[in-house]
Amino acid sequence: LLHTVQLAPADPILGLNEHFAKDQRTDKVNLGVGVYLGEDGTLPLLECVRVAEERITAGRKPHGYLGIDGLPAFVATTRELVFDQGPAVLERVASVQALGGTGALKVGADFLKQLSPDAKVMISTPSWENHRALFTRAGFEVEEYRYYSPERKGVDVDGMIEDLEAAAEGTVVVLHACCHNPTGYDLDTGDWERVIDVVTSRRLVAFLDMAYQGFGHGIDEDKSVIGAFLDSGAEFLIAQSFSKSFSLYGERIGALHVVAADAGLTAKVLSQLKVCIRTNYSNPAKHGAALVAEVLCDPDLRHIWVTELAAMRERIKDLRGQLVQRLEAEGVTDMGFIADQLGMFSYSGLTKDQMVALRTEHGVYGTDAGRMCVAALNSRNIAHVAKAIAAVR
Ligand code: LMR
Repeated sequence: LLHTVQLAPADPILGLNEHFAKDQRTDKVNLGVGVYLGEDGTLPLLECVRVAEERITAGRKPHGYLGIDGLPAFVATTRELVFDQGPAVLERVASVQALGGTGALKVGADFLKQLSPDAKVMISTPSWENHRALFTRAGFEVEEYRYYSPERKGVDVDGMIEDLEAAAEGTVVVLHACCHNPTGYDLDTGDWERVIDVVTSRRLVAFLDMAYQGFGHGIDEDKSVIGAFLDSGAEFLIAQSFSKSFSLYGERIGALHVVAADAGLTAKVLSQLKVCIRTNYSNPAKHGAALVAEVLCDPDLRHIWVTELAAMRERIKDLRGQLVQRLEAEGVTDMGFIADQLGMFSYSGLTKDQMVALRTEHGVYGTDAGRMCVAALNSRNIAHVAKAIAAVR
C-alpha cells in the first residue's frame, strides 16, 4: 500500500518555519507565519492570559472530557463577543468550540458539504493559502473571485461583485471579516453593502473567516460586517480564531457560528455540527477555552485584554510606518502602501523569485506569494529587512 505514497509539497506557510529553524544565520528573520512577536522578538504571554492561567491552575481541576460542542462558558462568551444584537439573534445562532480558526473552517466545510454536496466554493484572489486546500480536501470544487488589484493597490470591488453575480445559487463564498489575509486590504462599509446585496440576491452562502478581530480598527469595528449580514436576514457562517487576539496559537482555540434564518433551525444545525466534530476528533481540548472564558467573563481581565490587544494593533501600525521610512532610506520609495494595509501582513508585491532571494541570500522569510508578517518586526531586525528588500528589488 504505502509504496504508492507521493511526497507532498511543504506547506506554503508553516513549511517556512521548518526551513527557518534549520537556517544557521544569526540575523535571520521569520516573516512567514502570521504570529505577533514583541519588541524582544519573542511570543508574548498576555498578562490577562497569565493571570487567568494562574487561577485555572490553582483550581486543580481534573481533566474530564468536554462536551462535543465545547466548554459552555467559552461558547457563551464568544457568542456574546461576536453577536451583541440581543437574545433574539442569539437564538438563531448555533455555536461550537473549534480547533482554532482552521478547525472552525473545516467543521463548517464538512457541515456544508453534507448539506449541499454539489455547491462550489469561491475564495478571493489571492486568499489565505490554506483556504483552497482546506475546502478542496472537504470535497468542494474551489473557484476564485477577483479581489486584489495590484495596479490600484486595493480591492477590485467591481470585479468582485461581477464574479459573485455570476456564481451559481448556493455557492459558498469565503470572505475575510477584517484584515484580509494576505493583502491587508479590506472592504469599506459601502463595499460590504454591495457584497451583501449580491450574496442575498444570488442566494449565496457567506462563510466569514474572522481570524484577526482587533488587529484592524478595534474589536467592535472589526466585526461590524457581522451586524450588516444579520440585518440582511441571510444565513451565514463565521469561523472565529483566538490564536492571534489572545496570543494562544498553540492552544488551537476558536469557534464556529452558524446563523440560521429562524430560531427553529438552530437545534438541528447544532446537532449536525456535533456529528461533524464527533466523527473528526470527538470533542475539543479544554485549556485554551478555559483561558479565553476566564478572561472574557471577568471584567478586569477583559479590560486588560482589550488594552493589550490595542497595544499589539498600534505597535503593528507603528512598525509599518517605520518599515516604510527605512525602505525610503534605502532608496525604495514606492512601497508606502505598506502603511495603509491592515492586520499582521504586508502584501509586498515582490515576485516569487524576489521572495526566494530574500530567503536564500538574506535570511528574511516571507511566503512565495510576497506576503510578509510585519507583526514580527522589531527595532533590531527592521533595518536588515529593509536593506534585504532593497537588495532584491
Ligand atoms: C497565517 O496565515 O500565517 C496564519 O493564519 C497561520 C496559518 O495557519 O497559516
